[in-house]
Amino acid sequence: MTSYYVTTPIYYVNDAPHLGHAYTTVAADVLARWHRLRGERVWFLTGTDEHGQKILRTAEANGVGPQQWADRLVTESWQPLWDHLHITNDDFIRTTQRRHTDRVQEFVQDLYDKGDIYKGGYEGPYCVGCEEFKLPGELIDGEGEFAGQKLCPIHRTPVEILSEENYFFKLSEYGDRLLAHYEAHPDFIQPESARNEVVKFVRAGLQDLSISRSTFDWGVPVPWDAAHVIYVWVDALLNYATAVGYNENPEKFEDTFPADVHIIGRDILRFHAVIWPAMLMAQGLPLPGRIAANGWLLVGGEKMSKSNLTGIRPQDLTSHFGVDAYRWYFLRAIAFGQDGSFSWEDFTARYTSELANDYGNLASRVTAMVTRYFGGLLPAPTANGPAEDALHASLATTVTESDHRIGDDLDFQGGILTIFDFIRRINGYLTTQEPWKLAKDDSPEARARLATILYTAAESLRAMAILLTPIMPETSQKLWTSLGAEASLGPLADQRIRDAATWGKLPPSSTVTKGEVLFPRLEEKSGT
Ligand code: ME8
Ligand code: MG
Repeated sequence: MTSYYVTTPIYYVNDAPHLGHAYTTVAADVLARWHRLRGERVWFLTGTDEHGQKILRTAEANGVGPQQWADRLVTESWQPLWDHLHITNDDFIRTTQRRHTDRVQEFVQDLYDKGDIYKGGYEGPYCVGCEEFKLPGELIDGEGEFAGQKLCPIHRTPVEILSEENYFFKLSEYGDRLLAHYEAHPDFIQPESARNEVVKFVRAGLQDLSISRSTFDWGVPVPWDAAHVIYVWVDALLNYATAVGYNENPEKFEDTFPADVHIIGRDILRFHAVIWPAMLMAQGLPLPGRIAANGWLLVGGEKMSKSNLTGIRPQDLTSHFGVDAYRWYFLRAIAFGQDGSFSWEDFTARYTSELANDYGNLASRVTAMVTRYFGGLLPAPTANGPAEDALHASLATTVTESDHRIGDDLDFQGGILTIFDFIRRINGYLTTQEPWKLAKDDSPEARARLATILYTAAESLRAMAILLTPIMPETSQKLWTSLGAEASLGPLADQRIRDAATWGKLPPSSTVTKGEVLFPRLEEKSGT
């Protein structure tokens, strides 16, 4: 088996990361962690996109060189946020690294040698925010301060009209092959609406793509013509190949490339679903398994971006709700692929009812009862009744379903709901069985029944700790430790999804301790 290879976009370093970037990266991290927990070898890549006009202009506006600017943003903003959010990327590629730029030059030189690139003139609109050549038909009319100008539909700022001599890639020749690929691989682009959008775009006819710029020099030089730099998107897309040994480490490349899943946002769908596959086809390289586009995050109904600052940083939320709850919230609240809104009220309500009440309280009640009624030694179950049998059966379905939804379908919300349905079942089981009443009865029958109930609840929680590890690693670890599972079953990272469904793994006599509260009561939040 080759490695399961997951990527995020490589983000522009013109500014610090915001909730939208973190959303994509957390989703990719959960997917990577999920596959590791299946026992697969995983390669998870993220990084930064550092060339192009947008970065150059930002650096200039800040009075520093572009490399210095990029270095500062990467080390002071991007990497620290990923550390803070417990992102487990295996590599971090920066497009200014030699391991990348050398390979980009080779790739483009190859295409040139094959006759896939020619010199021409480009004249047309360009959005520096998108770093994208736009079609006149997709622009919108400006109003107010932009009256009379044509605007980028994504950034809602005026496009610039370029007129320069550029090199072109014969993208127009790939339309039929791309359509045939979409047809043969219905899951190649997700969700369905994204796929439809791409198919429609390609059917309308592709134009050749300008792949160099000649009016500024912050980029990878075109190897045969130093007056040009390679278009930043061609440079950027190649990160997915250069980071895993393209033209450098055949063993690594064979084992990893192409990506199983590129997770991206809707804004960069065409680059990934049209241009990138065409570039690969031109070189006879294999295409990625899937392009999965997440929906757009909105705050108060407004698109979140740098041109529309909402003033909420990921750290503002993690300091209030905690990192685990933050990782969980966006995947839980928004169906992956759909747009979604963030609000403090919604996060607060879900935190309290689902995390603190349903899950956190359950964990503390169960560990407290084992501590109180059995001196902290997990009792052995005696005879299982129908209630226990029902719970075992339901656990098996929960594991299969959540594995399929998260690991295969990238339906993070559906997977989380499946897991939390089971958590509510454990709660329902305890409410019906009333162990606290049995505990008042000293008869051997009552003790035996109490032992079965608490064992069943603890064993169910063991499985929840495993299933929730990819989403909420820290709280899973706390629960794992307080169940005594670390001592008897070893590190959480060594557990497997399929084992979560195997009943009876947690050995009786494990030392259960009443652990830390998993989801503390939220502090009063003053103002927003
Ligand atoms: O486009 N909601 O980088 P970028 C959801 N460098 N996701 C969002 C979001 C929002 N409001 N805002 C940003 C680039 N994102 C290129 C990528 S890849 C070879 C090169 C996420 O810094 C989403 O994944 O503009 C989106 O596609 C990405 O950040 C864009 O990041
Ligand atoms: Mg962007």
